[in-house]
Amino acid sequence: MIKGFLFDLDGVIVDTAVYHYAAWKKMANQLGFDIDEEFNETLKGISRMDSIARILEYGKMELPEERILELATLKNDWYVEMIDQMTEENILPGITDLIAQIKENGLKMALGSASKNAPRILDRIGLASFFDAVVDGNSVSKSKPDPEVFIKGAEALELKNEECVVVEDAFAGIEAAHAAGMKAIGIGTTENLPNADLILTSFEGVDLQDLIDQKLS
Ligand code: G1P
Ligand code: MG
Repeated sequence: MIKGFLFDLDGVIVDTAVYHYAAWKKMANQLGFDIDEEFNETLKGISRMDSIARILEYGKMELPEERILELATLKNDWYVEMIDQMTEENILPGITDLIAQIKENGLKMALGSASKNAPRILDRIGLASFFDAVVDGNSVSKSKPDPEVFIKGAEALELKNEECVVVEDAFAGIEAAHAAGMKAIGIGTTENLPNADLILTSFEGVDLQDLIDQKLS
C-alpha cells in the first residue's frame, strides 16, 4: 500500500534541470569543449563533485583538485544567480495540485534530491512547509543510482521502502528507487526513462487515487 511520495526536485518540482545544464555547459565552454543534451542526461541526479568529474573526463581534462573546487564554486555561483530569480510561478504544472491531493489523502511526502541547493529552492518557491522531510545533497554521501537518498527519505517518513513511490526525471534516479525496492514514476519520455514503472509528461490533470489504484498497484 502506498503511504508516501518521495520527490526528486530538479526537473520534477521545478525546471532547474535546464539551469544546471546551462551552468555546466558554460563551465565546459570556458574550458574549451562543449557538452550536449544527451551527455547532460548522465549528470541528472548526480552530485556536484561527481558531475564535474564526469564532465572533465568527457572533455579529457585532468586538473588539480584546487582548480576543480574553484570551477565547482563558479558553476554554483552562476546556478544560484538563476535560482534566486525563481518564484512560485516556476513550480511545474500539476505539482501544486498533486501536493494538495497528497495532503487531503493523509499521505506523507519527502524530498529526495542530490542537490545542496534544495532548501534554498523550496524556500524560494514557497513549498518548504509541505514536506514532512527533506533529504538532499547535504545529508547524503552517495549519488543516485545508489538508493541512499530514498532509503533515508522513507526512514524520515517512518515508512517501509515499499510503501513509498518515487517521482524522478533521471534514469539514475529511477535506478535508485528500484534499488530501494520502490516503484518510480518517470517525468519525461520512454526514450530517456525506459526503466520507469509509469511515464508522465507532467502531473497536470492527474487524480492521485486513480494513479495509485490503477497504475501503481
Ligand atoms: C547537483 C549537481 C547537478 C545535478 C543535481 C541533481 O546539484 O550540481 O549536476 O544535476 O545535483 O539534482 P547542486 O548541489 O550543485 O545544486
Ligand atoms: Mg532531477
